[in-house]
Amino acid sequence: MSNPRIIRIFDTTLRDGEQSPGASMNLAEKLKIAQALADLRVDIIEAGFPIASPGDFEAVRQIARDIQGSTICGLARCNDADIDRAWEALQEAHDARIHVFLATSAIHREFKLKMDKEEIIRRAVAGVERAVGYCDNVEFSPEDAARTEPDFLCQVVEAAISAGATTVNIPDTVGYATPQHMGGVIADLVNRVPNIDQAVISVHCHNDLGLAVANSLAAVENGAGQIECTINGIGERAGNCSLEEVVMALRTRGDHYQADTRIDSTRLVPTSRLVSSVTGLHVQRNKAIVGRNAFAHEAGIHQDGMLKNAATYEIMRPQDVGFADTDLVLGKHSGRAALKDRTIKLGYRLTEAEINELFEDFKRLADRKKEIYDSDLAALINQRSRTDHDEWSLVGYEEHTATGKTPQIRLTLRRGTDEVTTEMSCGDGPVDAIFLAIESLTGFDVDCKDFNVHSVSVGKDAQGEVLVVIEHEGRPYHGRGVSTDSVEASAIAFLDAINRIIGADEDADARLETSEPGP
Ligand code: KIV
Ligand code: ZN
Repeated sequence: MSNPRIIRIFDTTLRDGEQSPGASMNLAEKLKIAQALADLRVDIIEAGFPIASPGDFEAVRQIARDIQGSTICGLARCNDADIDRAWEALQEAHDARIHVFLATSAIHREFKLKMDKEEIIRRAVAGVERAVGYCDNVEFSPEDAARTEPDFLCQVVEAAISAGATTVNIPDTVGYATPQHMGGVIADLVNRVPNIDQAVISVHCHNDLGLAVANSLAAVENGAGQIECTINGIGERAGNCSLEEVVMALRTRGDHYQADTRIDSTRLVPTSRLVSSVTGLHVQRNKAIVGRNAFAHEAGIHQDGMLKNAATYEIMRPQDVGFADTDLVLGKHSGRAALKDRTIKLGYRLTEAEINELFEDFKRLADRKKEIYDSDLAALINQRSRTDHDEWSLVGYEEHTATGKTPQIRLTLRRGTDEVTTEMSCGDGPVDAIFLAIESLTGFDVDCKDFNVHSVSVGKDAQGEVLVVIEHEGRPYHGRGVSTDSVEASAIAFLDAINRIIGADEDADARLETSEPGP
C-alpha cells in the first residue's frame, strides 16, 4: 500500500471503558494502563472526566504530567466549571486536548436537557470557545449524533468548527447505527458542512448491536480521520469499538481501506491482558485478535494447510499482534535472566526492581507448580500491578472439610502494614466460609453477584483465576485472584473487590455535585 492515510487512534479505555459496570480502576492502575497505551502508540489517550470526582481529576492530572508520546485528553460537558476543571487537570501535559460534549438528538434535547435547538448551538459554541481559551486542541462531540436530525447535526458541527473545534467527533452513543447509516452520516457532513476541512472528523461507536467496529470502518471509508475505541472493546453496556479489531482490520485490509494507524500491533496482546486483569473483565477465548484461541487451528485439514503454508488459513501472524512465537515453559531451575528475557518477548517492559519482585513471585510459584507458561507469567505480572495499595491482604487460612461435614475456615488477614486479625467461619462450602470470614473481619456486608473460576494455563497444577463481582450500596465492584489453590484465589479476589470499595468510598466521599447529567 503506497502512502496510506493515517487514521488517528483515540483510546477511551480510561474514560468510557471505565464506565463498564464494576470496572473502576485505582490511580496506580490507570497510570499503568496509560503507559501501556503510550507504548502501544495510540495518538490520543482520554484519561478521564476530571469534574466527575477528585479521583478522576487526580488520574487525569498525573497521566498528563507523567505520560509522554500521546496527546492526553480530558472530558468536559459544555459548562464553565467542567471545562475549567478539565484544564486544571491537563495543564501540565506536553500535548493536551479538551473534549467537550453536548447531546443534540431530539430525544436528549427534549427529555434530558430540556433545551431547544438554538440553546444547544449557543451552549456548544460557548463550550468550545471557553476550551479554546485554554488550549488550541479542542474536540467537540454532539452526543447521540447518529440519532440527530441530519440538518441540525450539520448546523451544530459547522458552528463548533467556527468556534475553534479542531476535531468533531460523531458518537453513536446508543449503538443504534448500521454501517451504511454511519457511513452516510459522515458522508453527509463531508458534503454539506462548508468548513469541514478545518477539522478532523472522528467516530465513536458503541456496540449494542455488535456493529461498533463495522460502523467505525464505514466512517473511515467516508472520510473519518480518527477512531475512538477501547482495549478489548470495554465500555458502557455492550462496550465500545474494540481497538485491536479496528486497528488490525485497517492493517490487514489496507488494500481496501488505503489507510493504516501508528499502532505498534505487537503490543496488542500484552495491553489486552493488562486491561483484562485490571478491570476483571475476562477476554473470551474466541475474541478476534487477542482471544486465546484467535490463532488456534483445530480442524485437521486446516492444520495440514498451515504446515504447508501458514497463509492458507492465517490472514495475520500471531507474532504481529504480540503472541510469543512459542509458549516456552520456564521452571524451578530457570534463572532471573531467562525470566527477564521471557517478559521482554511477551511485550512487557519492566524495571530492574519489578523484575526482582517478579522473580520472587516466580520462585514461589515454581515451588507449587512444575511448568510455568506465558499465561502464568502474565498473571503474576498483572497481579503485582494491583497489590501495592491494598488495605486488606491475605496472610493465610486453614480449612477443615470432609464429605457430609460443614466446612470450617480459620482465616487470617492483614490490615495496612501490620495489624493482623483472625476469624473462624463455617459455610455451605469452603469458598462461602472464607467469604463470610472476610465479611466479618472487614466489616463489609456485600452481595456476591458473580463468581467465576477458570484455569490460567494447562495441567492439573494449573493456576486458577477467580473473578468475582460483589455489590455494595447498589454499586458493583470486581475482584480478581490467581493461585494454584482456588480457595486462596477466591479469598484474594474477594479481598481485591473489598479494597476497591474502600478506594471508591474515599473518592465518593468527596464526589462533586454536578448540575447536569453526565455522559
Ligand atoms: O457515547 C458517547 O456519546 C460519549 C461521548 C461523551 C463522546 O461517550
Ligand atoms: Zn461513549
